[in-house]
Amino acid sequence: MNIQEIIAKKRDKKELTKEEIVYFVTNYTNGIIPDYQAAALTMAIYINGMNEEETTNLTLAMAHSGDILDLSGFGTVVDKHSTGGIGDKATLILAPIIASLGIPVAKMSGRGLGYTGGTIDKLESISGYQTNITIEEFRKNVGNIGISLMGQTLNLAPADKKLYALRDTIAATESIPLISSSIMSKKIAAGANKIVLDVTCGSGAFMKSLSQAIQLAETMKKIGELAKKETVCIITSMEEPLGESVGNSLEVIEAVQALRGKMAADVQEVVLTLGAYMIKLAGKGDNIEENKQKMLTQIQKGEAFQKLKELIQIQGGDISCIENLELLPKAKYVMPVLATEKGYVKTLDAKSVGEVSMYLGAGRMKKEDCIDPAVGIILKKKIGDYVREGEVLAYIHANSEEKGKEAINQLLNCYEIIEERIEKKSGILKVI
Ligand code: URA
Repeated sequence: MNIQEIIAKKRDKKELTKEEIVYFVTNYTNGIIPDYQAAALTMAIYINGMNEEETTNLTLAMAHSGDILDLSGFGTVVDKHSTGGIGDKATLILAPIIASLGIPVAKMSGRGLGYTGGTIDKLESISGYQTNITIEEFRKNVGNIGISLMGQTLNLAPADKKLYALRDTIAATESIPLISSSIMSKKIAAGANKIVLDVTCGSGAFMKSLSQAIQLAETMKKIGELAKKETVCIITSMEEPLGESVGNSLEVIEAVQALRGKMAADVQEVVLTLGAYMIKLAGKGDNIEENKQKMLTQIQKGEAFQKLKELIQIQGGDISCIENLELLPKAKYVMPVLATEKGYVKTLDAKSVGEVSMYLGAGRMKKEDCIDPAVGIILKKKIGDYVREGEVLAYIHANSEEKGKEAINQLLNCYEIIEERIEKKSGILKVI
């Protein structure tokens, strides 16, 4: 067997055998297959796809490219993952709420990919927070306080770590077999028994249409079933960014405010729905509406915020930053974006907002780029809101005046304002 033959088979739209997939994953992980051949095969998969059996074999080969964590000592561990979005701070809010209910949260999160943000980058805007802890520390934290959020370590699904970074550099992100194997391999390796997936759909998501999102959700659910991990997929809208803020420390601020009881309606809908299904899968309540109420109670009692503080402290972070949000990284310039016409916001293109945020430095253009935790956007008007001419649509947080000014123009182009009234729509599109 050799890699050229495998690339040629997929180039010619043929099905790969389990042995060929394992050969590729093993030899790419250990460095024998170079990036350029892996890139060629990845692009062939992107263009020609994979059937269910190939996708499952790719997922399992990637999951077994490193260690498989055994979390059985913690009872039912429910994991959550998103297929990526703009302003998606759901994990930062959801994880402490769920852990505060006594349901263990052991989550391996990712960095930003393309124009989408990543939880790990957001957590790193908290001074001292360690995302690259060892597996032993991860387990210890879950044992001690019921929660740990860490970055992808070398030992868990290392094939995904390499392929994920490679895909980002060759424009091969939006692919059902590649996304489902990436996510499910990490979930299988990280040892959770049950999985809730936020499958985003719309301009700012990898899946642009509902039918694509359903196909991705069904593929991941099937892989979950085969791996004996009950999986629920919630398809959520990513036509506009989630919540008010886009950018790393700005999203941490929004998450902290949410845990203190001030949560934007769209964020609340997504967080409560994902969480209610996590509680259900954990066997702690079958009634979705009651589960949502339990989560709100944890916020009102301050228990969820307390859990976030415990998490930050145990992972080396400075909790004074979240007790006093002024201590988080702040941009030098805060510039208003003023509406040039009156009317109702019809569109606020999530992908374009993500690109403005990347331009400001909140995301990476190349995988070696450093991100600026302080910069980003605060959206004051979203789809369905009425705006007067000259009213503030948003604020740009920039560290360069020149970039800030350019970002104002870019952000204005993300908005479409019309005279007719626009209804706000639910962000939950389907549960699978
Ligand atoms: N999240 C992942 O972990 N992998 C992808 O491919 C996309 C989103």
